[in-house]
Amino acid sequence: MDDGTGRVAGMVACVTGAARGIGRAAATLLAREGATVIATDLGSNADGLLEDMAKSGGSASYHRLDVTLEGDWQDLVQTIARDFGRLDILVNNAGIGLSSPVTEMTLDAWKTQMSVNVDGTFLGVKHCLPLMRATGGGSIINVSSIAGIKASPNVSGYCASKAAVRYFTKSVALECAAMKDGVRVNSIHPGVVETAIWDTLIGTDVHPASNRPRSSTIQQFTAQAVPLGRAGRLDEIASGILWLASGESSYVTGTELVIDGGRSIA
Ligand code: NAI
Repeated sequence: MDDGTGRVAGMVACVTGAARGIGRAAATLLAREGATVIATDLGSNADGLLEDMAKSGGSASYHRLDVTLEGDWQDLVQTIARDFGRLDILVNNAGIGLSSPVTEMTLDAWKTQMSVNVDGTFLGVKHCLPLMRATGGGSIINVSSIAGIKASPNVSGYCASKAAVRYFTKSVALECAAMKDGVRVNSIHPGVVETAIWDTLIGTDVHPASNRPRSSTIQQFTAQAVPLGRAGRLDEIASGILWLASGESSYVTGTELVIDGGRSIA
């Protein structure tokens, strides 16, 4: 791994759902590019994450945070204010994906998904904005999905939650711009990236519809449905997050950065 070029040097960044997948890749890249990273997730620690970030040359700490709990956010923001005195980057990445036909979806499952994907994003923005504003602004990146733009069957709750994140983002971007608070707010829309979220979307082993292992189901699907012919890689999503976090995107707010190999326009 190279040392990075300090694209977010001196900035303080908070990433939710950072223990694995896209959040972990984003946290590690932000650290490599010079940010002090506060990585958060549900567990009391994140297997090897701090070591990975230290290896990448970054400064990092890990905090347990359930994004659905307002008290967790209040405690975390207090800790960040006390330890660092500022917050420049917030990546609202934590999310879950549940799949079932709408008539079989329980109200509990619907609410759980909305709670993590939508309430979690709302609470992060609500509680981190004041600290960002107090120290001259920052960049908020809300991880939505192409599911927030292009619908698919049997994931109505997931699509609804990600579409909510997309429009929530735009409204808050306008609110911040009107206040001239220096905070930019954007959403990012990954296409298919093989991570653990697919365990609950299509199963862990053999996909019942195709009778093929998960990886090969994803490969077969992306080869046929994604114009670039493959799934995305973690680094390809993390680099979009880095760009939105850095000053390189200083004239960008309220936008939706789609990184999906062309899937949403096909
Ligand atoms: P993942 O399942 O590997 O990672 C999600 C992380 O969120 C996990 O570490 C999990 O512990 C954490 N999390 C779940 N509930 C939480 C809660 N209540 N509080 C705090 N943390 C919580 O999945 P992946 O793919 O890395 O997903 C990251 C984001 O990217 C999600 O918002 C997902 O919807 C989005 N996304 C993923 C795509 C994919 O194909 N992998 C495509 C489009 C969007």
